[in-house]
Amino acid sequence: MKYLLLEREKDIAVLKINRPEALNSLNSDVLRELKETLLELNQDDKIRVLIITGSGQKAFIAGADIKEMKALDYDGGKEFAELGHSVYNLLEDSNKVVIAAINGFCLGGGNELALSCDIRLASDKAKFGNPEVGLGIIAGFGGTQRLTNIVGEARAKELLYTGKIIDALKAEKIGLVNRVVAEGQLLEETWKMARKIAGNAPLAVSKTKEAVAYGRRKGISAGLEREKELFASCFETGDQKRGMEGYLNKIDVKFEGK
Ligand code: HXC
Repeated sequence: MKYLLLEREKDIAVLKINRPEALNSLNSDVLRELKETLLELNQDDKIRVLIITGSGQKAFIAGADIKEMKALDYDGGKEFAELGHSVYNLLEDSNKVVIAAINGFCLGGGNELALSCDIRLASDKAKFGNPEVGLGIIAGFGGTQRLTNIVGEARAKELLYTGKIIDALKAEKIGLVNRVVAEGQLLEETWKMARKIAGNAPLAVSKTKEAVAYGRRKGISAGLEREKELFASCFETGDQKRGMEGYLNKIDVKFEGK
C-alpha cells in the first residue's frame, strides 16, 4: 500500500490515510487502496473495531483530490463518484464498528468519509466543512444524504450551500461529531472507546449496527420489525448465556462472538 498504513492489535485495527504532502486528500489510488483494504478487513473475523485517522498533525482528510478532479468530464465524474460511493458504502456496512479519529482538516470527501463511520471523535484543532459548491461541484461522496441524516436537513443545507468551515466545538454542538477531545488525547480516547466496544458481545454489537442501518434505509416500522428478529436471534448465541450468567454470578466474562 502506497497511501495507507494498517496496524492490528488483537481485535482492533487502525487504518491511517498517509498522504500528508497533499493533506491526505483522496485520489483514485487512495480510494482503490481503501477499497481493497476494507474488503480484506471484512474477511478478518478477529477484528471488531476499526479506527480511521489521518497522517500528520494537520489533516484528517482535506477532501477529494482537486488536482485529479479538475480534468474530469461527465463519465469521469460518474466513475469517480462511483468509486467513492463503493468505498464509503463498505465503511458504512462494514461488519466492524468504525470510528473516525479526526485529527485536523476534515473537508469535502473527508467529511463524507467521516460521516460513513459509526462514531466520530475529533481533536479540538479539527475543522469541518463541505466546500464543494465553491469549486463548482456538489458533495458527491454521499454528503447530501449522510450529512442530512446526521445533523438534520436545515443544518446540512446551511453547510452544503455556504461551504463554510466550522470548528470542532461547533461540529459537536450540531451532532456532526460525538465528542471533542484535546489534540494530544485523541488517539488514546479513541482507543479507550474501541476497547470498550470490542469487549462487548460481538454479535450483539453487530446486530445493533444492522438494526440501526435497517431502520434508516427502510423506515422505522420495518426497523422495529427487524429489531425484534435480531433480538430473538441473540438467544441462539452462547454469548447471551455467558453474558447473563456472568451478570448474575457477578463475574467478568470473555465473549466469544458465538
Ligand atoms: C488536492 C490538496 C487538497 C485537495 C490540500 N491539498 N487539499 N490537493 N486536493 N483537496 C494540497 C495543497 O494543494 C498543497 O499542495 C498541500 O496539500 C498543502 O495544502 P495548503 O493549501 O498549502 O495548506 P494550507 O494553506 O494550510 O491550507 C489548508 C486547507 C487547503 C485550508 C485545507 O489546503 C484547502 O482549502 N484545501 C482544499 C479543501 C477542499 O476544498 N476540499 C474539498 C475538495 S472537493 P502543494 O503541492 O501546493 O504543496 C471534494 C469533493 C468530494 O472533496 C466529492 C467528490 C465526488
